[in-house]
Amino acid sequence: MPEAYHKLRTKRAPRPDGCPVDHAFSPFAVKYVADPYSELARRREDSPVFYSEELGYLVVTRMKDVAAVFTNPDVFSSENVQDPVLPICDAAAKVLSAADYDPIAVMSNRARPDHTRIRKYTQAGFSGRRIRALTPYVRERCEALVDGMLEAGAPCEFVSTIGHPLPGETIFRLLGFPREDDPRLQEWTTNRLAFTWGKATEEEQVDIAKKMLAYWRYCVSFVRHRHREPADDFTSELLAGHDANPDDLTYKEVESVVYGLSFAGHEIVSNFLGNSLVCLLSKRENWEALCADPGLIPNALEEVLRFNSPQTSWRRVVARDTEIAGYRVPAGTQVFLSLGSANHDESLYDDSGTFDIRRKNARTHISFGRGIHFCLGNRLAQMEARITMETLVRRVPSLRLVEDQVLDYFPNFTFRGPKELWLSW
Ligand code: HEM
Repeated sequence: MPEAYHKLRTKRAPRPDGCPVDHAFSPFAVKYVADPYSELARRREDSPVFYSEELGYLVVTRMKDVAAVFTNPDVFSSENVQDPVLPICDAAAKVLSAADYDPIAVMSNRARPDHTRIRKYTQAGFSGRRIRALTPYVRERCEALVDGMLEAGAPCEFVSTIGHPLPGETIFRLLGFPREDDPRLQEWTTNRLAFTWGKATEEEQVDIAKKMLAYWRYCVSFVRHRHREPADDFTSELLAGHDANPDDLTYKEVESVVYGLSFAGHEIVSNFLGNSLVCLLSKRENWEALCADPGLIPNALEEVLRFNSPQTSWRRVVARDTEIAGYRVPAGTQVFLSLGSANHDESLYDDSGTFDIRRKNARTHISFGRGIHFCLGNRLAQMEARITMETLVRRVPSLRLVEDQVLDYFPNFTFRGPKELWLSW
């Protein structure tokens, strides 16, 4: 039986011999979450690979080293990516000890050969046909949410009005969940990322754990329902795969994929939308260029993913003794891959600290990972962001950031986007 989806304690690995130690690197610090990039630039220059004393992780900052780790999955295993960065408190662990809470590792945290076997089925669910089928729904919902924003009048808080609801509803429709369940589904999937990658208080951890349990139970019952009454959705497609080959894709794997997808594809897209507006509205000429030529939007969004990614890091654990950038790294070492730093690597990007919507190689960013675990939802995320920006430039060309707002970010080791974003027009 593969290990449970969420381990509750993470092992701390010692510093690899000879590797520089950094006592100050702290991705939870207010200064770092407000602006990780200047701190990363300094480290990329001084010691591109170092051991973080605070985290107990080996930190990798250059594109070539990050890419080398991603593309060698048998040496750098992804089995730790869903482990909580900080230990989960006993009260939250107790909530998740419920006998029926038993999702298993299926995608990002599952190793080969099982990962390859399962991905064959999940990949089919992200086909061009399914993305195209969802597109009119995303457009319709985006128009309706913008209607609501305009009716309520300026100023508007974007994250709660559009940024959070739109990606949630999109993923719920992909999975086939009925629309009337949206309010409770949105509630259960809010603030989920803080549980594993953030610095949630004990009270928050218990609250999130209860929602995770409720959401798991919902997924289990929904999969049972769809097994009896299939429809044209991702869940039914997975179940058809299971029915055709029950030993190749187990029923528990279907339940666990359905459960994991909303976490993989919800808050990260909310952050992507928020970061996009921060970048695009900060300089009037960029927004005006998009209003004049919406054809620039896809490349501008690639540049957002490079310059201000919603996911600034990811993890691996070393499966057998190896080397990274010339340092000997023993099995068991936990590796922090700084995607944010790699995306600003000066050896690849001219003037890497400048946001340039016309940058020719913006697409070469590593925000969706690389190799066998490459983000399955990348086209979906880009479709949602493109539609949101197309709708806003067409309907609200005078959109601007409310002046003098200080953006606040969650203390989070991996995911980054503004908690609130105030807009006016
Ligand atoms: C801008 C938004 C997004 C970003 C930046 C992003 C980023 C990533 C990254 C870095 C990985 C890990 C790659 C690795 O371990 O090598 C990943 C994996 C994954 N993502 Fe995304 N993601 C986004 C949106 C989505 C959406 C919308 C969905 C689904 C609805 C999704 C589903 C997944 C899944 C299922 C995996 C695991 C794939 C596997 O292990 O084979 N992601 N994503």
